[in-house]
Amino acid sequence: MPRIGIIGGSGLYDIPGLTIKECKKITTPFGDPSDVYRIGEFSGAEVVFLQRHGTPHHISPHKINYRANIWGFKELGIERIISISAAGGISHEMKPGSIVVLDQVIDMTKGRPSTFYDSDEVVHIDFTEPYCPEMRETIFTAAEKAGVGIKRSGTYICVEGPRLETAAEIRVFSMLGADVVGMTGMPEASLAREIEICLAGIAVVTNYAAGITGKRLTTTEVLETMKATTERLKSILKEVFTLIPLDRTCACKNALKEARM
Ligand code: HPA
Repeated sequence: MPRIGIIGGSGLYDIPGLTIKECKKITTPFGDPSDVYRIGEFSGAEVVFLQRHGTPHHISPHKINYRANIWGFKELGIERIISISAAGGISHEMKPGSIVVLDQVIDMTKGRPSTFYDSDEVVHIDFTEPYCPEMRETIFTAAEKAGVGIKRSGTYICVEGPRLETAAEIRVFSMLGADVVGMTGMPEASLAREIEICLAGIAVVTNYAAGITGKRLTTTEVLETMKATTERLKSILKEVFTLIPLDRTCACKNALKEARM
């Protein structure tokens, strides 16, 4: 049976339809993860769900222990993670309610512990393609089977937060080629690669980014749009769980090969 980790972000605090069998509390060499790992079964797969912001939602993006969260999945034997997060839409086609299968990332975070290798070992993982190509393909097929429209690519720019952006920042991010903006995508994605876990990033556009419409941004809008998107997300995930191959054929599983100095 395939086993998949899911990280839920703002407004996605569970997977409807997932029957939880066990809640596992894990401590890691990097401290405590955001929450317990909820283990259950859904659509023929074992699913391990982690709420990124804790329960209830109380951990701010800049305070999340990303290392502990990703390490915890490794300890549970998880090799694939789907990371779901809310994001602001920057480019024209990224409208609230859009589901984006990310393909690139720009990291603008500051000072977050962002590597597992900060003692004696010098490791440089290849991050040309930050998200697992095999998982992205599976999500494309799943969305097609589920009849849910998605964006097949998008560049995510990760900001430090917790404040939202200025209109000028969003204009600059747009010039840099960013399609969506969020606060939690990094270092989550690179940490997974550092320990050879496949990770796919799905961003749900919950609002237009700052300055795009001239309207104030609110967390109510973020939560409501995420809630309204949950059913579509669930239909995609259900298909992903049935489609995902048991064995990995992507390069993520060998990320440490020729990465050590
Ligand atoms: N900016 C940053 N993070 C976000 C946004 C945004 O507009 N929407 C949801 N998360």
